Amino acid sequence: MASSQLALDRDRFLAEHWQRKPLFIPAALPNFQPPISPDELAGLALEADVESRIIDLVEGQWHLHHGPFSASDFQRSSPWTLLVQAVDHHLPEVAALRQLIDFIPQWRVDDVMVSYAVDGGSVGPHFDNYDVFLLQGVGQRLWRLGQLCDDSTVLLPHDDVRILADFQCTDEYLLGPGDILYLPPGVAHWGIAQGECSTFSIGLRAPRINDMLSRWVDNALELLPADRFYRDAGSMPVIRAGEIRQEDLQRAQQQLRNVIDSLEVTDWFGELVTEPRHSNQPVSDPQTELSLLAETGNRLSLSPQSKVAWQERPGQLVTFANGESALFTHAVLPTLLILCEKWQLEGEALTSALANTECRSLLSFLLQSGAVHVE
Ligand code: SIN
Ligand code: CO
Repeated sequence: MASSQLALDRDRFLAEHWQRKPLFIPAALPNFQPPISPDELAGLALEADVESRIIDLVEGQWHLHHGPFSASDFQRSSPWTLLVQAVDHHLPEVAALRQLIDFIPQWRVDDVMVSYAVDGGSVGPHFDNYDVFLLQGVGQRLWRLGQLCDDSTVLLPHDDVRILADFQCTDEYLLGPGDILYLPPGVAHWGIAQGECSTFSIGLRAPRINDMLSRWVDNALELLPADRFYRDAGSMPVIRAGEIRQEDLQRAQQQLRNVIDSLEVTDWFGELVTEPRHSNQPVSDPQTELSLLAETGNRLSLSPQSKVAWQERPGQLVTFANGESALFTHAVLPTLLILCEKWQLEGEALTSALANTECRSLLSFLLQSGAVHVE
């Protein structure tokens, strides 16, 4: 899959809709064949290592049930929805849907959640803090969109589900197979199944400003000499005893800003945005694994649950994998590009990577961080 398959003007989308306003894309993927059926989804929800939920509405009350489920959990008298998180981590065919939005940085993509609902099933009116592309699988779902929400928006008193106390409908879209509805963060939405239906939610993620700040500070403290102190040469005489004057505070803030501008603190961002939500399986002995790989002619694949990103620096290329970073020369760029675009390294590209010392170190780092595996 690739975004070129989407009936979407990517430049216009990024300029007008991304992070700003919803977009309904009818027939975004004509003839879309959902890569997982409702039965297969229900099968996944029986497994202990899969995160799944059922939400139902019984006599006007919303209820949340956590998986793993058994077959009898799917026999309910009230309308219900099954939600299975990170299906892309389990099925490569579902992971391929992430490539539909390859014009957005890969490290912004979180996971693909898949839902199945019986007629009338819904998770209620709510808002999310992340962007989402809602791709309709089988059947139809009516999406009602509403007001813009934030952390001051009033929710119904409920321990488990976040349902809006007040929903003001502004637009309605009826989605059928292959239609997409893009929603930026904060837009109230309420999807109601019209008959049985399934929906693929390609969810994005963004680091919290709090986390960015704390990571930046941690990274900066490693670089900043401990014996730098606040300086106040040229200050005015004190008039009111005990006062911290505006100018004192401003001077301190200016000195912090000078540190921000002067320190080359960059790794914190890549490390933060590639942190995996679920643990990975690192390879304990990557060198042996690479030697075996050269002999067997197998291939290396990017693990669907892992995050890999890279950043250019003068004369260097920093690679981030699952929250860790390592420095390489630009010699690794062709190998990294193939892995990030195709999610696989095989044949000639793999052979030449294995023959190059720098690329071999890259592959060893990626194996060690659990970002790639041998297939
Ligand atoms: C659903 O697929 O039913 C819910 C998705 C969402 O509203 O975020
Ligand atoms: Co939502």
